[in-house]
Amino acid sequence: MQHDKEAKNGSTQENGIMTGSRNIVDEITGHRRMRRNRKADWTRRLVQENRLTVDDLIWPVFVVPGENVVDPVAAMPGVNRMSVDRLVEAAKEAADLGIPAIATFPNIEMHLRDETGSHSLAADNLINEATRAIKKAVPGIGVITDVALDPFTSHGHDGVLRGDVIVNDETVELVARAAVVQADAGSDIIAPSEMMDGRIGVIRQALDAAGHQNVGIMSYATKFASAFYGPYRDAIGTGGLLKGDKKTYYIDPANGTEAIRDAALDVEEGADMLMVKPGLPYLDICWRMKEAFGLPVFAYQVSGEYSQIKAAAMNGWIDGERVMLETLLAFKRAGCDGILTYFAMDVARHLDRKG
Ligand code: PBG
Repeated sequence: MQHDKEAKNGSTQENGIMTGSRNIVDEITGHRRMRRNRKADWTRRLVQENRLTVDDLIWPVFVVPGENVVDPVAAMPGVNRMSVDRLVEAAKEAADLGIPAIATFPNIEMHLRDETGSHSLAADNLINEATRAIKKAVPGIGVITDVALDPFTSHGHDGVLRGDVIVNDETVELVARAAVVQADAGSDIIAPSEMMDGRIGVIRQALDAAGHQNVGIMSYATKFASAFYGPYRDAIGTGGLLKGDKKTYYIDPANGTEAIRDAALDVEEGADMLMVKPGLPYLDICWRMKEAFGLPVFAYQVSGEYSQIKAAAMNGWIDGERVMLETLLAFKRAGCDGILTYFAMDVARHLDRKG
């Protein structure tokens, strides 16, 4: 790209310097021009403020029972549910690419789901089996486990349903016990997504009482009652089950200040890391959380966000790879320390190719 020659227009070199040529844009900008720093690839690289690296990625994965199962999720092109053996292979691949951590979500057999999600407490349930197998075969990758009850309940809610109420304190007691069982299985970080009040403090106490002082808590601090979770509910088989909605425990998408207050309580109760979910529609929350608390903040680019990009790309309407990278970089700009994203492997491979 050639430099602008406009500055010289309408004046000769000599009288330009001596008398000060009149250039209307220079007068307006006071000789400041933002485009000088954008003029070449090398200047752009030099002034680039944020960068996406493989260290920013957490890969959410879906686990199913069985052996040698790789089952595509229809609503999430490119995403599979995997049996533990295949998940272990995938985790190895992720670790080789440098991805720091994976987050596991189980698709539990229907006959094991009940009103209270009691199977979440079983030491040998699918999520705990997955943790054990991954930690044994790939000790270098972090395993993050959710303690919400939705994969285990017959009604698809994240907590215990009594009548038409998701009861808070009984749910907290259960998720705290499930957290200890998950930590016993080797989980490195407990990530409670069920948005019950007081859960972070109770989980912290339960983990410490069980000797799991080194197990961290990544709070789904601000989880919104969002329509972007649709494809995930298909992936873990809760979509058809869910009666009603989750508005009595997730945050209203209209409320930003309430979200910060909710996160503040989690910080007081001992959260080590905070999460914002969904991601891209809530960048303001990411920024406010980082500014307010200074704790590591992660965004969850959820299933619906992923599928939108995939669907448009498959139709040839957008450049899927560029949009993927742009959305992830936007999280960095918004102050996030990392992103849970179903694109994690694609991005890691892309960054690997770039060297
Ligand atoms: C529920 C949970 C949800 C997701 C992960 N755990 C939301 C929900 O079903 O209400 C969503 C993840 C995604 O959409 O990618 N505890």
